[in-house]
Amino acid sequence: MIDPVSVQSMLGDARGRFDIDSLQECDSTSTLLLKRAAEGAPAGSVIVTDRQTAGRGSRGRGWLASPESSLTFSVLWRFDGGVGQLAGLSLAVGVAVVHALEAFGANGIMLKWPNDILYDNAKLGGILVELQSAPDSALAVVGIGLNLSMPESIGEAADFALPAAALDDIILPLPERHALFAQLLVELAHVFDRFSYGGFAVLRDQWQALNAWQNHPVRLLRNGLLEKEGVCRGADLDGALLVQTSAGVERCLSGDLSLRAR
Ligand code: BTN
Repeated sequence: MIDPVSVQSMLGDARGRFDIDSLQECDSTSTLLLKRAAEGAPAGSVIVTDRQTAGRGSRGRGWLASPESSLTFSVLWRFDGGVGQLAGLSLAVGVAVVHALEAFGANGIMLKWPNDILYDNAKLGGILVELQSAPDSALAVVGIGLNLSMPESIGEAADFALPAAALDDIILPLPERHALFAQLLVELAHVFDRFSYGGFAVLRDQWQALNAWQNHPVRLLRNGLLEKEGVCRGADLDGALLVQTSAGVERCLSGDLSLRAR
């Protein structure tokens, strides 16, 4: 299990900004944190667990991860303004995750709109951002699941269109779990601060540099059915996907859409 005291000692400037609860098992760190948020948990509350019994992925899917082979946690943050301004938050979180992994020497980790962390076109991890309105502010529960090593059963169940990848394919030896978790929190604090100041717009260039399919032909599916085909032109200032089709550059907002390489 993660020891919160060890993690705190590795947080540097972000020390004191997170309140970490480490659990052996829970249904889902995000479900539990949403519950605690409703009871008034402060920004910076974090739940990390060794085992989720009902992990959740995007678009209502499940998320399977085995305890020895993954890092599974959720972070609660509050932002001024309404939830409408947070559309690009999951993209911004992706930038934080890549920077944290790069700090351990990982190269070639890319992002797929809106919430996948990829290596070599396989899925290394996923991000689930859930938003709620609060008076004059918005609350985000950011859930992150990372495959550290390849589990016996598939490490993720969120997007069967992609094979699974694991961090030990990329960095060997694997970073020590506490150090890796601390670095993820440090980068998240940094990205949350920048996002609070200028929204996704201030992180867009970094996201586009990490966009796995920038200028590549893509398809957008809704409920498995083809909705649009074109060339991926990155993300707009608010995080909407830009796809160049015969009708021009079209904006696509998250929701039920899923992106595929063509
Ligand atoms: C996806 O790619 O579909 C998103 C997966 C997000 C999984 C993480 S694991 C920690 C947190 N708790 C959950 O139940 N889900 C997220």
